[in-house]
Amino acid sequence: MDVKFAPVMANANNFPVATIRATPAFCVTDFRRLGQSTDFSQCIYTRNGRAAIGLAAQQLMHSNKANVVLLPAYHCPALVEPFLWLGYEIRFYPVLPDLTVDEDVFLQYLTADVTHCLVVRFFGFQQNNKQLINLAALAGKVIIEDYAHALVDFLQQLEQVNSTVAARICSINKILPTIDGGLLYMQQGIGVQPQYCSWYEEAKGIAFLFKIPQFIQYIKSKVKKPRQTPSVAQTAARTVNKLTYFQPEDLSSASFRHTKVILQLSDFKHIKAKRRSNYNYLAQGLAKSQAGQCLYAYAELEAPYVLPFLLNDAADFQHLRLKKIQVLRWEEVAYGQCQVSEDYRSRLIQLPCHHKLKQAELDYIIDAVQNLVKKNES
Ligand SMILES: Cc1ncc(COP(=O)(O)O)c(C=O)c1O
Repeated sequence: MDVKFAPVMANANNFPVATIRATPAFCVTDFRRLGQSTDFSQCIYTRNGRAAIGLAAQQLMHSNKANVVLLPAYHCPALVEPFLWLGYEIRFYPVLPDLTVDEDVFLQYLTADVTHCLVVRFFGFQQNNKQLINLAALAGKVIIEDYAHALVDFLQQLEQVNSTVAARICSINKILPTIDGGLLYMQQGIGVQPQYCSWYEEAKGIAFLFKIPQFIQYIKSKVKKPRQTPSVAQTAARTVNKLTYFQPEDLSSASFRHTKVILQLSDFKHIKAKRRSNYNYLAQGLAKSQAGQCLYAYAELEAPYVLPFLLNDAADFQHLRLKKIQVLRWEEVAYGQCQVSEDYRSRLIQLPCHHKLKQAELDYIIDAVQNLVKKNES
């Protein structure tokens, strides 16, 4: 089956630069964990989460039969492209409005010719992944668990042996203030070792972390004419022969060395507690919102990546971006039969809740969402 991704709906060039970012900025005081250690020896550092998926998918391929993978119908293309590049046949299983999966429906997708299955912890929440993993394991499928949004839980899982899952991946820069990074754990051990970049590239990476090139770019933009918006051709639906997010060369590169240092010195207990309390503060502030609803009313055990919020009016996404809040949305969902995914590509937005947000910023987000209704009434 050909995979065709829906087009982008909102053009980032039309929005002002966000002041409230989806991910935290780097600061030297982030180093809090000197002297503590987590055992990272069971995983490898990859350029990003998508490269970790690519490496897992590559090593777990069957050479004697067709490789058919089940992926969730709600996704970003970065998750799908590695499988397409490797020549897997892709089938999408539908999701329910809370992003769990109907187990009876899932069972119907576990046909004999399916070889692999990937489950995602959307936004850091568990959904019913345990049940899906059990069903897929009983059916003899090779299972990949995607923790791209759940770095802290990924690290906790390293301490528990689970033989049903063949590989787990996560993304580092979705949670930590780094500019790249992914981790790959494989139950069978990892047969490859991505290489670190040159020290020159490393130095460029560090300069980027400290926003030096961005500052130069900003100064240049003040004296140059603004960037053009993309042409119609660029915004049209695309088939995947052209990879947009996944770069095959990333399979052979490790993350920056300084990403590894930031990871190893991060205080995950603090990060988890702060993300959870930020999430719950926002969720409480938005509980009675007329603009929409939080997908999950409360974060109990997890360290959420973002707060998924279902807008009543999809156009409100633009208004929040104009308020300089870096709201995210998965617009380029592959076309298919899943009504929820089709609906969510415009209405489900991701509000920042990272561990470095200040009280005033959380209040600003709540106000901005609440004011959407007043704006729509006026
Ligand atoms: C669920 C999921 N998996 C994998 C990825 C890829 O992660 P990364 O951006 O680190 O390559 C993403 C990111 O967009 C994602 O949302």
